[in-house]
Amino acid sequence: MKGIDKIGTDVAFAAQLLEEDGIVAIATETVYGLAANAYSESSVMKVFEAKQRPSFDPLIVHTHSIEQVESFTSEFPAELKKLANAFWPGPLTLILPKNNKIPNIVTSGLKTVAVRIPRKTRTLELLKKLPFPLAAPSANPFGYISPTTAQHVIKQLGDKIDYVLEDGDAEVGLESTIVGYEDGQYIVYRAGGISIEEIEAIVGPVLLKNHSSSNPKAPGMLASHYAPKDVRVVHAEEFDGEDDESIYYLRFDKKLKNIPGHRQVILSKSSDLTVAARNLFASLRQLDEIPSCKTIVIEYVPNKGLGKAINDRLKRASAH
Ligand code: TXA
Ligand code: MG
Repeated sequence: MKGIDKIGTDVAFAAQLLEEDGIVAIATETVYGLAANAYSESSVMKVFEAKQRPSFDPLIVHTHSIEQVESFTSEFPAELKKLANAFWPGPLTLILPKNNKIPNIVTSGLKTVAVRIPRKTRTLELLKKLPFPLAAPSANPFGYISPTTAQHVIKQLGDKIDYVLEDGDAEVGLESTIVGYEDGQYIVYRAGGISIEEIEAIVGPVLLKNHSSSNPKAPGMLASHYAPKDVRVVHAEEFDGEDDESIYYLRFDKKLKNIPGHRQVILSKSSDLTVAARNLFASLRQLDEIPSCKTIVIEYVPNKGLGKAINDRLKRASAH
């Protein structure tokens, strides 16, 4: 199989590939993931290789139930279980102490493991069929933007993976929110698909320590495999050049009046942050694929709710 032929809905086939140490892209509500048997070092190694991901960046383990989580962790603190009960299945990842079922390659040697239950039906069906959980980072080459459709996965990793178990587009569009609990304090390591406000509504004040990586993490690395180029992303407030035909605009809810409409992409006409999050990565890809586009001038969205995670990704896309 090549390219687009690798996209399908055959859960049994995907399960068989994974049982045989293959790597399979899976749909989740946040972004597509590139999955391997989390208990198999050799199969997880293939994920790192396909993504060209450095071994110091640990993976998230995807599971179908709290019972399964308890089989590969040494403790599930009540403080974090509260969040699991509130948001799983959904875009929340919890940091838990691992036991020795999880090989060190998955956690980059850390004693903790990142865990979540995703929300897509077909992916949950697959997870229930398998006798092991799935280690899966986002299904993009390291440093590139995360994929929100099966086609995004194929375009960049099609020749490196065995199959894409398709299950519609990612409806959240931002990676999961990563939360841990240390020394009596909730810590958010990555803002994501569940807003900080939603988490605080359940557990009270949290500490935001946005240290963990999210793509795109390398400056000027939006360019995709199939159309390699170097698009510069700058913030509207910092853009000091004159407008010309090579400059495109990613806007929150309104087009600029003085710029031709075909060089502007709107994230949400109705000013809805949920819609903006869903459209963010596909919009960046869309602009990146326009041959004449050399610079993308982006605008921050309101910094509340999902807006915080959107602004975090925009900041990373434009990091120098
Ligand atoms: O929504 C998501 O989380 C998607 C889908 C596929 O589930 N996955 C995803 O994976 O975004 P990835 O590999 O792109 O990001 C995982 C992040 C890493 O940046 C890593 O730093 C953090 O999770 N992480 C993994 N294990 C960790 C741990 N033990 N402690 C703290 N952070 C951890
Ligand atoms: Mg990623």
